[in-house]
Amino acid sequence: EKDGYAHYMLKEIHEQPRALRNTMTGRIDEAQKKVIFPTLQLTPESVQKLEKIYIVACGTAYHAGVIGKQVIERLAHIPVEVDVASEFRYRQPLFQKNTLTIVVSQSGETADTLAALREAKRNGSAVLAITNVVGSSIAREADDVITTNAGPEIAVASTKAYTSQLIGFYLLGLYLAQGKETVDQQARAEVLSALQELPDQVEAILAHADGIRQYAESIKEENQLFFLGRGLDYAVSMEGSLKLKEISYIHSEAYAAGELKHGTLALIEEGTRVIALSTQADLYEKMVSNITEVKARGAVVLGIALANNMELHRSVDEVCLIPVTNELLTPVLSVIPLQLIAYYTSVALGHDVDRPRNLAKSVTVE
Ligand code: F6R
Repeated sequence: EKDGYAHYMLKEIHEQPRALRNTMTGRIDEAQKKVIFPTLQLTPESVQKLEKIYIVACGTAYHAGVIGKQVIERLAHIPVEVDVASEFRYRQPLFQKNTLTIVVSQSGETADTLAALREAKRNGSAVLAITNVVGSSIAREADDVITTNAGPEIAVASTKAYTSQLIGFYLLGLYLAQGKETVDQQARAEVLSALQELPDQVEAILAHADGIRQYAESIKEENQLFFLGRGLDYAVSMEGSLKLKEISYIHSEAYAAGELKHGTLALIEEGTRVIALSTQADLYEKMVSNITEVKARGAVVLGIALANNMELHRSVDEVCLIPVTNELLTPVLSVIPLQLIAYYTSVALGHDVDRPRNLAKSVTVE
C-alpha cells in the first residue's frame, strides 16, 4: 500500500505533483485563462462586496493560511487576518458586514477549526472551507467548499495536503481578483500559467533529492536549528520548522529574519545550523544582510533560492536551488526540500516517521 516507499510520508511527498494537478482539475478555463468555481455560492458579484477575510486553521493548515493571506491581499486587495483556530474561537473577533471566513483543514474534523467555523456562522459570516475530505464535518457545515482532492493522507506529518491547500489559495486568490477586478487579465494569466507548471517543477526537485539526504545526515546530531525568511519565505520557514520538530524531535524555530536582532541572535553561536530561505527578489538584499549577521556569529547556513540566483552561494555555506517560478508561487517549491530534510533526518535518527510520538493525525478534541 506504500507503493514501494519506505514510509507513507515519503510516498505522500512524491504524490505531490499528482495532488497539485488534481487540485487544479476542473477549476481552470483554458480558453479564457480564468479560474472557475462553478458550484460556489461566492459568486463574482458577491466577491465584489467582500471587505474583510478571516483565515482560520491549525498547525500545517494554519501555515497554508499565512501564505493564503499574502496571496489574497496581493491579488485581490482584500484585507485578511489569519488566526490559529484555538485562539480565534475564544478571542471574540469582530465580524463586520461582508466578511468571509475561510477555514482550512485536511481532515475536516479538527475540533478547534470546526468550533471556529460555528463561531463565524453564529456571527453571520459566510464560511468557505478548504478541505481534503469530502463529507467531513467541516465540509458539511461550511457554506462553500473547495476540496483539495489530494487523496488520502496517512502520515501524521502533513505534506501533500499542505501544498494542495496552497494551490487552493492561489486559485481562490485569482478567483477573488477576477471578481474584484484588481489585477489585470495579463498578470492573472501569468500567475495561472506559472501555477500550471508547478507539478512538473515539484517533480524535478524530487528527482534530485540526494543532496538533501546528505544534508539531513549532517544535522541529525544537532539540538537546535533556525529557519529564517521574510514574507512568503518566513511563512514557509514556519512549516519547515514544524515538520522538523514533529518527526525528528530536533528543536527548531522559524524566525522573521528582520526580527533576529531583537533577541534571537543571542542563540546563534559557533556552528549553529541555519536554513535561510531567500526566494523573493525585493527582499533579497535584506536577507543577505541577515545571513551575514548570523555567519558573523559562527552560524553554518544552508541557503534556499531560485535557480537563477547566481549570488547567494557567496554568502552561505551550501545552497539548495529550486526551479524559477512566479514570485507568489515559490512556497510550493521551497517547502519540498524542507519536507525532505525533516523526513530524512527522522529516518537517520531511526524514529517512527509516520507515527511520531504524542501526535494524532486528526485532533478531534480540544
Ligand atoms: C502537521 C500536522 C498538523 C495538522 C493540524 C490540522 O504536520 O499535520 O499540524 O496540520 O492538526 O489538521 P487538519 O488540517 O486536519 O485540520
